[in-house]
Amino acid sequence: MRTSVTLLLALAAGAGLAHEGVENPAVMARMGLMKDIGAATGTLGEMVKGEVAFDAGRAAAARAALVEAADRVPALFEARESDPKSEARPAVWEDWDGFVVRAEAMQAATRGLETGSAAALRASFADLGASCRACHEDYRLKD
Ligand code: HEC
Repeated sequence: MRTSVTLLLALAAGAGLAHEGVENPAVMARMGLMKDIGAATGTLGEMVKGEVAFDAGRAAAARAALVEAADRVPALFEARESDPKSEARPAVWEDWDGFVVRAEAMQAATRGLETGSAAALRASFADLGASCRACHEDYRLKD
């Protein structure tokens, strides 16, 4: 658990420079969506790790951002857009149904996030982290 949160935070923090030089606006848009997902996940992960104090209001806002962003994933990835800087594998489009299954798993995990207390957040956060990894493993070059 601790390790996966650390990895997630590294993922969220590392997102900034990846956009440098991206020319295709459709690729930029989907990377930007993932970057926002990384940022909101990082906000929650810091609370789960105890790096920042639990704050129910901030946690609820991050959850809401994640629910909304997760719903947009299929639409932003559906067109087969490419860019030399993209980290998406061809598998996204060659196995589109599998990609959508992973996106739906993340949608369910974002809805399952409980932000009423630090303990509830910690318990529900693991599924979210697992949903990122499950997709990145097969559909993203890094990770
Ligand atoms: C359904 C598949 C899928 C899920 C679920 C998913 N991702 Fe991604 N993610 C991708 C793909 C594909 C890319 C590469 C996009 C590209 O470079 O064109 C990516 C890229 C990223 C990036 C790099 C963005 C950038 O700046 O280039 C971050 C950060 C990221 N994901 C975070 C997350 C986090 C955190 C989660 C879980 C809360 C998550 N992702 C869940 C498929 C997914």
